[in-house]
Amino acid sequence: MAQGPGGSPPIMVDRLSFPAGFRWGVATAAYQNEGGNTNSQWYEWELAGHIRAGDGCGLACDWWAHAERDFDRAQAMGLNALRLSVEWSRIEPTEGIWDPAPIARYRQMLRGLLERGIEPMVTLHHFTNPIWFERRGAFLSREAARLFARFAAHIAEELGDLCDLWCTVNEPNVYSIFGYELGDYPPGRTHDLSATARAQAGMAHAHAAAYRALHAVQPAARVGWAQHYDVLDPARKHSRLDRIVAHIQDMVFNDFFTDAVRVGRCGLPVSLFVDDLSDVRGTCDFVGINVYSRHIVKFDLSNPAELFGTRSVAPDAPIGDPGINSPIGEIYPQGIARMALRAAGLGKPVYVTESGVADAADGLRPWVIARATASSHEAHMAGIDLRGYYHWTLVDNFEWTQGWTQCFGLIGMDHTTQRRIARRSAEFYSAIARANALTREMVEQYAPSALAAVFPGG
Ligand code: FCB
Repeated sequence: MAQGPGGSPPIMVDRLSFPAGFRWGVATAAYQNEGGNTNSQWYEWELAGHIRAGDGCGLACDWWAHAERDFDRAQAMGLNALRLSVEWSRIEPTEGIWDPAPIARYRQMLRGLLERGIEPMVTLHHFTNPIWFERRGAFLSREAARLFARFAAHIAEELGDLCDLWCTVNEPNVYSIFGYELGDYPPGRTHDLSATARAQAGMAHAHAAAYRALHAVQPAARVGWAQHYDVLDPARKHSRLDRIVAHIQDMVFNDFFTDAVRVGRCGLPVSLFVDDLSDVRGTCDFVGINVYSRHIVKFDLSNPAELFGTRSVAPDAPIGDPGINSPIGEIYPQGIARMALRAAGLGKPVYVTESGVADAADGLRPWVIARATASSHEAHMAGIDLRGYYHWTLVDNFEWTQGWTQCFGLIGMDHTTQRRIARRSAEFYSAIARANALTREMVEQYAPSALAAVFPGG
């Protein structure tokens, strides 16, 4: 509800409209969707028994053979954008040797998207490494930036006529923390703060080198990366100590990469572990933000490993399906506007490159879609150049260490049969994409629990 002119009665808002050309998309990743990626370090990780549910990626969503069937579904929903990644381990299976066959398949896929009126955004690195690169130390290696930039140049040469929107790396903070601090992702190291910081710095250098390599081949390329933001708030608003530890965790987790790109350096304590980041400065044409969750942080003297702050989920917060170990956090789509504002500090366009929830029963997802859309609209109204929203994800896919237990799809899928059944959320999201707007009617129909927050005063 907005105040009318001169104190006149408030104007009832019934429609949140987006600018012409806004991208309504879905986000996906090669390993999670393609199937058969046996040259990647994640396949070795699976074989070593690290998938908690005991299952494997297998055929995934069978995209290597049949992605086009799901592209048809995206087109039928009225979507105009899709984020996918290319699998480095297929394209350069051995160091320095390029396989033309996967390139031919990616060309087919990108053409398939364009023919359906869907703009591709291609991610070059979404958590998976070729086994040879992993053996060299992955992003801890001094060679990482050179090797990744060579791959980026190859991709631009081979696919540049079909795509100009590139996301170099996905969630460098998640990749490095899960791989070197928590041990949930390969290489499975734990409590190695120095390696965590250096892996992320290595990714920052690799991103910067790829940024330059992509532009050298394709001057008009639009290049960014996908930053994962966890909203971190003090557990007790009035506690100074909670506020301080929440702020420190926020800086360490959320700001490292953006600081590297914005000013070519990062803050304490991470700066103690990393080298000069000045080459990273200014290397982006857009910022992608992945926003799923919020945690509250409480000062805790007994927890030096987490910088004296213990994170938890606020009581009674919506959490989605909890997964095998713990939930992803409070599901917090309303954080998009706040995080977009931070990303906009770089002075570049912003895309919501991921947002979603694991929700097999589709009870919470419509609320998430309504709140995420409203929050994206809030960012737009605040003057942020927000270009698109990519929901994670189109079809249930292989959720890393959680295997097949987490259903993030607008469309449900039984991975043993590949049978898909659209959830009601698919219909809701499709209505938004077609209207390029979220209307009161849609929220009443699909997500009544979000009505008071999205259209207050009705
Ligand atoms: C993000 C990842 C994506 C998927 C979603 C649920 O952190 O980028 O691959 O796992 O979470």
